[in-house]
Amino acid sequence: MCGIIGYIGNKQAAPLLLQGLRRLEYRGYDSAGLVVTDNNIFDSVKSVGKIDSLAEKLKQREMKGHIGIAHTRWATHGGVTIENAHPHFSADGSIAMVHNGIVENYRELKGFLGDVSYKSETDSEVLVNLIARFYEGDLRTAVEKALQKVRGTYGIVVMHKDNADCLIAARMGSPLVIGIGDGEYYLASDATPLLAHTNQVVFLNDGEIAEVCRSGIQTYNLKNEQIVKCVEQIDWDDAKAEKQGYDHFMLKEIHDQPTVYEDAIRGRIDLEDGTAHLGGLNMTPEQMNKVDRIILIACGTASYAAMIGKYAFERLAGIPTEVDVASEFRYRDPIINENTLVFGISQSGETADTLAALREAKRKGAFIRGIVNVVGSTIARETDGGTYIHAGPELAVASTKAYTNMAAILLLYALQFGRSRRLSIATGQRICKALLEIPEKMGKVLEQKDKIKEIALKYKDYKNCFFLGRGVNYPVAREGALKLKEISYIHSESYPGGELKHGPIALLSAGFPVIAIITKNQLYDKMWSNLEEVKARGARVLAITTEGDEKVKELADDVIYVPETMELVEPILNTVPLQLLAYYVAVSLNRDVDRPRNLAKSVTVE
Ligand code: M6R
Repeated sequence: MCGIIGYIGNKQAAPLLLQGLRRLEYRGYDSAGLVVTDNNIFDSVKSVGKIDSLAEKLKQREMKGHIGIAHTRWATHGGVTIENAHPHFSADGSIAMVHNGIVENYRELKGFLGDVSYKSETDSEVLVNLIARFYEGDLRTAVEKALQKVRGTYGIVVMHKDNADCLIAARMGSPLVIGIGDGEYYLASDATPLLAHTNQVVFLNDGEIAEVCRSGIQTYNLKNEQIVKCVEQIDWDDAKAEKQGYDHFMLKEIHDQPTVYEDAIRGRIDLEDGTAHLGGLNMTPEQMNKVDRIILIACGTASYAAMIGKYAFERLAGIPTEVDVASEFRYRDPIINENTLVFGISQSGETADTLAALREAKRKGAFIRGIVNVVGSTIARETDGGTYIHAGPELAVASTKAYTNMAAILLLYALQFGRSRRLSIATGQRICKALLEIPEKMGKVLEQKDKIKEIALKYKDYKNCFFLGRGVNYPVAREGALKLKEISYIHSESYPGGELKHGPIALLSAGFPVIAIITKNQLYDKMWSNLEEVKARGARVLAITTEGDEKVKELADDVIYVPETMELVEPILNTVPLQLLAYYVAVSLNRDVDRPRNLAKSVTVE
């Protein structure tokens, strides 16, 4: 949830740390702070609010030091105050620490520490005092001893005021990456802030401690045994993490979709055989044939992409498929055996609930595979195979391009399984063709952005809103409602069209906005009847429908057209106008589109 960054090298640390925090702000943005050390003195600054307010404070002073750590916070323990902002310091002022995670037994540790004067309400301040208690001249040993007593999750970077040559980093459940530059090192919660400086990285695993010194990196486990780590190369381009002239990352990422979708499917579609090849599955044909159940585990937007996958696996491959919200999965005794294939779907690859659910599925003997965006993320490394979705850095909190690419990859998996079972080559080829046509068709939807902006202005002042869809468009309705609520704060609900009359229709009154996805597929007539029902109650209808459908205007007050495509592929196209609608509504309401209140991009706590 929080973002942490550290620097050691020959440059002034403070500006680099601030730049890094800006890149990490999507992980948390209620307060921020940084500390550098120079001549055995800590110099620190903290502020409540976004990184801009920290930057303002930094303009008023010069912070000298070639080593430092910084943090952007999403509050878990303690309110949003300067005192609770990181870095935290030991009571004697000698050790500073930034922490992402939760120390579950902090009360017990407080008892162990006895009489310490705390400045904040955070669990993190207890941890830095614990490290100080064990410090006898060697910071790594002190961190190791302290962590042996900790229950919970952490990604930490620790610094001693008298040691300008080393930073100590450790992880358990919260990600940490070390970037290797030219005579300098960066440490961060994810690779995004490193991209501007290096693409050579070392990923820490749970239970590892790194001593990052000017002379090099040494890595250990919590038993003080040295571990050899590989340096990996990240092929993300730093330019992809810039707004590139767009007002917001979200708008830029919506427009990225045709290109990154091509990145996702490139080399993976076999038009001639009407199939897909996703090598990362790591299963033999025999193992694939034995799969009798698929479970798709995800949270939020990723779970709506998973719902599209369910339709595809069942229709193309005939494999019973369930979608499980990760936070529920492990508490409901799921039925799993050695023929169950479980996919964890996650943009960040760090979502705590998804990760925990995958671990549970693995414990029960399933094949676990990842469909992940962030390269080297925990889910990518803990699963026994899977596929990167190649959406590139997604920095807006509201997910857009990752959703599209997740849906694309799930369709490809369904196609691959389908063709190895019952799916005909002709149908396979039609799906391949439909998938290949998506970027051009998506372009046609994006061209309508001015019209969608105009429509958004008509809907911006409503306080409540319904999204309706049926079949493959039900997940589209779910995603449309989530996008609108999370960035505009308009209360939005989504229902399968046929479900409305079982309760929610009681809420409808004259002028109540209903956004309906009613494209020309097998459920068009059913959806039409549902719209008749809402229209009869005086609802105001915005229809997303297929190009050329003039008849829909009999029911709809406003219409957005999408190009025709195969039914299973429709959700990829039909979601794009809803992303734009949510975006323009939020902008017109002056919302902080990229950093909506109370949310963080990567949810690394349960
Ligand atoms: O990183 P993940 O894909 O695992 O994240 C899952 C959800 O937290 C995420 O999709 C969330 O719902 C977004 N805010 C949606 O825009």
